Amino acid sequence: MEYVKIGNVKIKKTAALAPMASVADRAYRILCSEYGACYTVSELVSAKGLCYSDKKTAELCTVTEKERPMAIQIFGDDPEFMKSAAEICMKYSPDIIDINMGCPVPKVVNNNSGCALMKDSQRAAEIVRAVKSVSGVPVTVKFRKGWSSNSVNAVEFAEMLENAGADALTIHGRTKDQMYSGKADRNIIKMVKQAVKIPVIGNGDIDSLESCLDMYNSTGCDLAMIGRASYGNPFIFREIECYFENTEYIPPDIEKRMEIMLYHIKLILQQPEKNNEQRAMKEARKHASWYMKGLYGAAAFRAKCYSLETYADAQRLAEEFLQLQQNK
Ligand SMILES: Cc1cc2nc3c(=O)[nH]c(=O)nc-3n(C[C@H](O)[C@H](O)[C@H](O)COP(=O)(O)O)c2cc1C
Repeated sequence: MEYVKIGNVKIKKTAALAPMASVADRAYRILCSEYGACYTVSELVSAKGLCYSDKKTAELCTVTEKERPMAIQIFGDDPEFMKSAAEICMKYSPDIIDINMGCPVPKVVNNNSGCALMKDSQRAAEIVRAVKSVSGVPVTVKFRKGWSSNSVNAVEFAEMLENAGADALTIHGRTKDQMYSGKADRNIIKMVKQAVKIPVIGNGDIDSLESCLDMYNSTGCDLAMIGRASYGNPFIFREIECYFENTEYIPPDIEKRMEIMLYHIKLILQQPEKNNEQRAMKEARKHASWYMKGLYGAAAFRAKCYSLETYADAQRLAEEFLQLQQNK
């Protein structure tokens, strides 16, 4: 097994779970780690929210042993706030602090944060230096190909981040204007990898073992990171891990999928911040429908998933879905 080292943090070179707000919460990260994700990142956390001690924001920072190695990801536009936020993050003992310079969402970029920092390299560098000065753990940055097709600057931006002291970089091969449309550009990841000495994590459109291997082979990246392809499919991490460990991978049958769906819902129910069944089940609905996606009769079950109210409802739904598969 090969490893990549980000600062002093040793990570298996298999596949990491991407940060995904409102999806990759603690339950999701624990599940994916159990299925072999080699590294996880929190949902993005507002630096200002942390500094003003917003309770919900602080909850996002909790790191449990099962999710390690794990980064807390922060976003903001002000070096001083980012520095204070990093200090607060350190109380949660993350393995890494990641800075978001890739988020394309208007609410974030209109406040000069996320991908907007790709238009202000000097400020981006100041933020890295400020966070580094207090973090005591490796500091990484996640960014995109550029702001738009007219301003693709990932390579210069990466060099600047390295000079400012970043310990590793994650690049998603799309511009901010593309949001999630079109295809992620692997060539830009290759160019970034060739331009810097620090580890580079390649991200965008990995949806199978084959495309993960293609990410490694076509870009030379040090680590591959998977987001959306893990929806209802933590198994993708096991498949990739088995490949690198040279062990047999047994794909899940439908029974296994339903079992893991219920286990995932249990993990959501166990999270203290989802402290009542109704709230947790609301969160569980989209995940339930993702576990069924692509299987026989899934479309008809979508509405049922979105009306789940209790764990017992989910158990009944899983049984009904299995029955349907047997009768098809
Ligand atoms: C629902 C959703 C939420 C996301 N939230 C974050 C986030 O909080 N921080 C971040 O850096 N990227 C975020 N991303 C971007 C992903 O980390 C990743 O870069 C992107 O989905 C491309 O990878 P994929 O093709 O494997 O999904 C989010 C993506 C999605 C779909």
